[in-house]
Amino acid sequence: MNLILMGAPGAGKGTQSAKISDKWNIPAVSTGDMLRAAVKEGTEMGVKAKSFMDAGQLVPDEVVIGIIKDYLSSDKCTNGFILDGFPRSIPQAEALEKMGVVIDAALSIEVADEKIVERMSGRRICSSCGASYHTVYNPPKTADVCDTCGSALYTRADDAAETVLSRLETYHSITEPLKDFYASRDLLICVEGQEKVEDTTALVMKALSKFEA
Ligand code: AP5
Repeated sequence: MNLILMGAPGAGKGTQSAKISDKWNIPAVSTGDMLRAAVKEGTEMGVKAKSFMDAGQLVPDEVVIGIIKDYLSSDKCTNGFILDGFPRSIPQAEALEKMGVVIDAALSIEVADEKIVERMSGRRICSSCGASYHTVYNPPKTADVCDTCGSALYTRADDAAETVLSRLETYHSITEPLKDFYASRDLLICVEGQEKVEDTTALVMKALSKFEA
Protein backbone atom coordinates (compact mmCIF):
# COMPACT_ATOMS: atom_id res chain seq x y z
CA MET A 1 0.00 0.00 0.00
CA ASN A 2 1.33 3.43 -0.99
CA LEU A 3 -0.44 5.86 1.28
CA ILE A 4 -0.49 9.63 1.76
CA LEU A 5 -1.57 10.80 5.21
CA MET A 6 -3.00 14.31 5.29
CA GLY A 7 -4.50 16.61 7.89
CA ALA A 8 -3.94 19.84 9.75
CA PRO A 9 -0.89 20.21 12.01
CA GLY A 10 -1.61 18.11 15.09
CA ALA A 11 -4.50 16.21 13.48
CA GLY A 12 -2.80 12.97 14.47
CA LYS A 13 -0.88 12.03 11.31
CA GLY A 14 2.26 10.94 13.17
CA THR A 15 0.24 9.03 15.78
CA GLN A 16 -1.76 7.12 13.17
CA SER A 17 1.11 6.58 10.74
CA ALA A 18 3.02 4.72 13.50
CA LYS A 19 0.04 2.40 13.98
CA ILE A 20 -0.46 1.81 10.24
CA SER A 21 3.28 1.20 9.87
CA ASP A 22 3.17 -1.48 12.63
CA LYS A 23 0.10 -3.20 11.23
CA TRP A 24 1.12 -3.19 7.57
CA ASN A 25 4.84 -3.50 8.14
CA ILE A 26 5.65 -0.62 5.80
CA PRO A 27 7.81 2.43 6.62
CA ALA A 28 6.30 5.76 7.60
CA VAL A 29 8.24 8.73 6.35
CA SER A 30 7.64 12.16 7.88
CA THR A 31 9.14 15.15 6.10
CA GLY A 32 8.74 17.06 9.38
CA ASP A 33 10.89 14.50 11.25
CA MET A 34 13.50 14.53 8.48
CA LEU A 35 13.67 18.33 8.52
CA ARG A 36 13.90 18.44 12.33
CA ALA A 37 16.77 15.93 12.19
CA ALA A 38 18.54 18.14 9.62
CA VAL A 39 18.04 21.20 11.85
CA LYS A 40 19.47 19.29 14.85
CA GLU A 41 22.49 18.14 12.85
CA GLY A 42 23.02 21.66 11.50
CA THR A 43 23.24 20.52 7.87
CA GLU A 44 22.97 23.04 5.04
CA MET A 45 19.40 21.92 4.44
CA GLY A 46 18.61 22.20 8.16
CA VAL A 47 19.95 25.74 8.36
CA LYS A 48 17.81 26.68 5.32
CA ALA A 49 14.68 24.99 6.72
CA LYS A 50 14.85 26.30 10.29
CA SER A 51 13.59 29.84 9.73
CA PHE A 52 10.55 28.60 7.78
CA MET A 53 9.68 25.99 10.40
CA ASP A 54 10.08 28.44 13.28
CA ALA A 55 7.66 30.80 11.54
CA GLY A 56 5.09 28.04 10.90
CA GLN A 57 5.59 28.31 7.13
CA LEU A 58 6.30 25.62 4.57
CA VAL A 59 9.91 24.88 3.69
CA PRO A 60 10.48 25.57 -0.05
CA ASP A 61 9.08 22.85 -2.32
CA GLU A 62 12.41 21.98 -3.96
CA VAL A 63 13.96 21.10 -0.58
CA VAL A 64 11.26 18.61 0.46
CA ILE A 65 10.78 17.21 -3.05
CA GLY A 66 14.51 16.40 -3.07
CA ILE A 67 14.41 14.49 0.23
CA ILE A 68 11.28 12.54 -0.72
CA LYS A 69 12.72 11.60 -4.10
CA ASP A 70 15.83 10.15 -2.42
CA TYR A 71 13.76 8.30 0.16
CA LEU A 72 11.26 6.74 -2.26
CA SER A 73 14.02 5.44 -4.50
CA SER A 74 15.61 3.57 -1.56
CA ASP A 75 15.12 -0.18 -0.90
CA LYS A 76 13.02 0.58 2.20
CA CYS A 77 9.96 1.42 0.12
CA THR A 78 9.69 -1.65 -2.11
CA ASN A 79 6.68 -3.09 -0.19
CA GLY A 80 4.90 0.23 0.21
CA PHE A 81 5.14 3.37 2.33
CA ILE A 82 3.22 5.97 4.28
CA LEU A 83 3.96 9.62 3.47
CA ASP A 84 3.24 11.69 6.60
CA GLY A 85 3.18 15.39 5.75
CA PHE A 86 4.07 15.13 2.06
CA PRO A 87 2.82 16.41 -0.31
CA ARG A 88 1.77 19.66 1.31
CA SER A 89 1.23 21.85 -1.75
CA ILE A 90 -0.06 21.32 -5.29
CA PRO A 91 3.48 21.62 -6.79
CA GLN A 92 4.66 18.88 -4.38
CA ALA A 93 1.77 16.61 -5.42
CA GLU A 94 2.52 17.24 -9.08
CA ALA A 95 6.20 16.46 -8.49
CA LEU A 96 5.21 13.14 -6.90
CA GLU A 97 3.17 12.26 -9.98
CA LYS A 98 6.08 13.23 -12.23
CA MET A 99 8.30 10.79 -10.29
CA GLY A 100 5.90 8.08 -11.51
CA VAL A 101 4.91 7.12 -7.94
CA VAL A 102 1.55 5.30 -7.84
CA ILE A 103 -0.59 6.23 -4.84
CA ASP A 104 -3.38 3.95 -3.56
CA ALA A 105 -5.06 6.46 -1.26
CA ALA A 106 -4.76 9.92 0.30
CA LEU A 107 -6.25 9.68 3.77
CA SER A 108 -7.15 12.95 5.47
CA ILE A 109 -7.72 13.10 9.24
CA GLU A 110 -10.24 15.87 9.89
CA VAL A 111 -10.01 17.83 13.15
CA ALA A 112 -11.47 21.28 13.97
CA ASP A 113 -8.97 24.12 14.52
CA GLU A 114 -10.03 24.66 18.17
CA LYS A 115 -9.10 21.07 19.03
CA ILE A 116 -5.74 21.41 17.28
CA VAL A 117 -4.55 24.21 19.56
CA GLU A 118 -5.44 22.11 22.63
CA ARG A 119 -3.65 19.07 21.27
CA MET A 120 -0.45 20.91 20.42
CA SER A 121 -0.12 22.41 23.88
CA GLY A 122 -0.10 18.91 25.43
CA ARG A 123 2.11 17.18 22.88
CA ARG A 124 5.41 15.70 24.09
CA ILE A 125 7.98 14.05 21.83
CA CYS A 126 10.70 11.54 22.67
CA SER A 127 14.12 13.11 22.24
CA SER A 128 15.57 9.79 21.11
CA CYS A 129 13.05 7.66 19.12
CA GLY A 130 10.59 10.43 18.19
CA ALA A 131 7.49 8.71 19.68
CA SER A 132 4.64 11.17 20.20
CA TYR A 133 2.56 11.51 23.41
CA HIS A 134 -0.06 13.84 24.86
CA THR A 135 -0.17 14.78 28.53
CA VAL A 136 -3.93 14.08 28.67
CA TYR A 137 -4.99 12.05 25.61
CA ASN A 138 -2.02 9.73 25.24
CA PRO A 139 0.15 10.04 28.37
CA PRO A 140 3.37 8.08 28.87
CA LYS A 141 3.34 5.60 31.79
CA THR A 142 5.87 7.81 33.64
CA ALA A 143 5.61 11.59 33.18
CA ASP A 144 8.13 12.98 30.65
CA VAL A 145 9.71 9.57 29.98
CA CYS A 146 9.27 7.60 26.74
CA ASP A 147 7.47 4.24 27.19
CA THR A 148 9.39 2.72 24.28
CA CYS A 149 13.02 3.70 24.92
CA GLY A 150 13.08 5.43 28.33
CA SER A 151 14.48 8.73 26.99
CA ALA A 152 13.32 12.19 28.07
CA LEU A 153 10.33 13.83 26.36
CA TYR A 154 10.37 17.43 25.12
CA THR A 155 7.96 20.03 23.71
CA ARG A 156 8.47 20.99 20.03
CA ALA A 157 9.48 24.63 19.50
CA ASP A 158 6.80 25.08 16.81
CA ASP A 159 4.05 23.96 19.21
CA ALA A 160 4.00 27.45 20.79
CA ALA A 161 0.42 28.78 20.46
CA GLU A 162 1.38 31.65 18.12
CA THR A 163 3.25 29.35 15.73
CA VAL A 164 0.41 26.83 15.76
CA LEU A 165 -1.98 29.53 14.50
CA SER A 166 0.41 30.36 11.68
CA ARG A 167 0.75 26.65 10.78
CA LEU A 168 -3.04 26.33 10.68
CA GLU A 169 -3.27 29.32 8.33
CA THR A 170 -0.64 27.76 6.06
CA TYR A 171 -2.54 24.47 6.15
CA HIS A 172 -5.86 26.01 5.10
CA SER A 173 -4.42 28.16 2.32
CA ILE A 174 -1.76 25.90 0.76
CA THR A 175 -2.28 22.29 1.89
CA GLU A 176 -6.03 21.83 2.17
CA PRO A 177 -6.59 22.35 -1.60
CA LEU A 178 -4.86 18.97 -2.01
CA LYS A 179 -8.10 17.34 -0.88
CA ASP A 180 -9.72 18.45 -4.16
CA PHE A 181 -6.59 17.40 -6.06
CA TYR A 182 -6.86 13.82 -4.75
CA ALA A 183 -10.67 13.72 -4.80
CA SER A 184 -10.52 14.45 -8.54
CA ARG A 185 -8.28 11.36 -8.89
CA ASP A 186 -10.71 9.30 -6.78
CA LEU A 187 -8.03 8.72 -4.13
CA LEU A 188 -9.33 10.82 -1.21
CA ILE A 189 -10.58 9.16 1.98
CA CYS A 190 -11.66 11.43 4.86
CA VAL A 191 -11.80 10.19 8.46
CA GLU A 192 -13.11 12.30 11.34
CA GLY A 193 -10.46 12.52 14.07
CA GLN A 194 -11.98 11.35 17.36
CA GLU A 195 -11.49 12.38 20.99
CA LYS A 196 -9.56 9.20 21.70
CA VAL A 197 -6.53 8.02 19.73
CA GLU A 198 -7.80 4.40 19.59
CA ASP A 199 -11.19 5.49 18.20
CA THR A 200 -9.46 7.34 15.34
CA THR A 201 -7.23 4.29 14.77
CA ALA A 202 -10.32 2.06 14.46
CA LEU A 203 -11.80 4.37 11.79
CA VAL A 204 -8.47 4.61 9.94
CA MET A 205 -8.00 0.81 9.90
CA LYS A 206 -11.58 0.32 8.71
CA ALA A 207 -11.04 2.80 5.86
CA LEU A 208 -7.82 1.03 4.82
CA SER A 209 -9.15 -2.52 5.15
CA LYS A 210 -10.05 -2.57 1.44
CA PHE A 211 -6.32 -2.58 0.62
CA GLU A 212 -5.65 -5.73 2.63
CA ALA A 213 -4.67 -8.76 0.58
P1 AP5 B 1 5.32 18.25 10.63
O1 AP5 B 1 6.24 17.70 11.63
O2 AP5 B 1 4.85 17.40 9.53
O3 AP5 B 1 4.13 18.92 11.43
P2 AP5 B 1 2.58 19.02 11.14
O4 AP5 B 1 2.01 18.60 9.84
O5 AP5 B 1 2.32 20.40 11.53
O6 AP5 B 1 2.01 17.89 11.98
P3 AP5 B 1 2.43 17.51 13.38
O7 AP5 B 1 3.63 16.61 13.37
O8 AP5 B 1 2.55 18.75 14.24
O9 AP5 B 1 1.16 16.77 13.90
P4 AP5 B 1 0.52 15.36 13.54
O10 AP5 B 1 -0.62 15.53 12.62
O11 AP5 B 1 1.57 14.35 13.18
O12 AP5 B 1 -0.10 15.03 14.94
P5 AP5 B 1 0.41 14.08 16.13
O13 AP5 B 1 0.16 12.65 15.76
O14 AP5 B 1 1.76 14.44 16.59
O15 AP5 B 1 5.96 19.57 9.96
C1 AP5 B 1 6.61 20.56 10.73
C2 AP5 B 1 7.11 21.66 9.83
O16 AP5 B 1 8.04 21.11 8.86
C3 AP5 B 1 6.05 22.36 8.98
O17 AP5 B 1 5.43 23.41 9.67
C4 AP5 B 1 6.89 22.86 7.79
O18 AP5 B 1 7.61 24.02 8.12
C5 AP5 B 1 7.89 21.73 7.59
N1 AP5 B 1 7.44 20.72 6.60
C6 AP5 B 1 7.15 19.41 6.85
N2 AP5 B 1 6.75 18.80 5.72
C7 AP5 B 1 6.79 19.72 4.74
C8 AP5 B 1 6.47 19.70 3.35
N3 AP5 B 1 6.03 18.59 2.73
N4 AP5 B 1 6.63 20.86 2.63
C9 AP5 B 1 7.10 21.97 3.21
N5 AP5 B 1 7.39 22.07 4.53
C10 AP5 B 1 7.24 20.95 5.29
O19 AP5 B 1 -0.68 14.48 17.24
C11 AP5 B 1 -0.64 15.74 17.85
C12 AP5 B 1 -0.94 15.60 19.35
O20 AP5 B 1 -2.30 15.19 19.53
C13 AP5 B 1 -0.09 14.54 20.05
O21 AP5 B 1 0.21 14.98 21.33
C14 AP5 B 1 -0.98 13.29 20.09
O22 AP5 B 1 -0.68 12.44 21.18
C15 AP5 B 1 -2.36 13.91 20.20
N6 AP5 B 1 -3.40 13.15 19.50
C16 AP5 B 1 -3.28 12.51 18.32
N7 AP5 B 1 -4.45 11.92 17.99
C17 AP5 B 1 -5.34 12.24 18.98
C18 AP5 B 1 -6.71 11.94 19.20
N8 AP5 B 1 -7.44 11.22 18.35
N9 AP5 B 1 -7.28 12.45 20.30
C19 AP5 B 1 -6.57 13.20 21.17
N10 AP5 B 1 -5.27 13.50 21.03
C20 AP5 B 1 -4.66 13.02 19.95
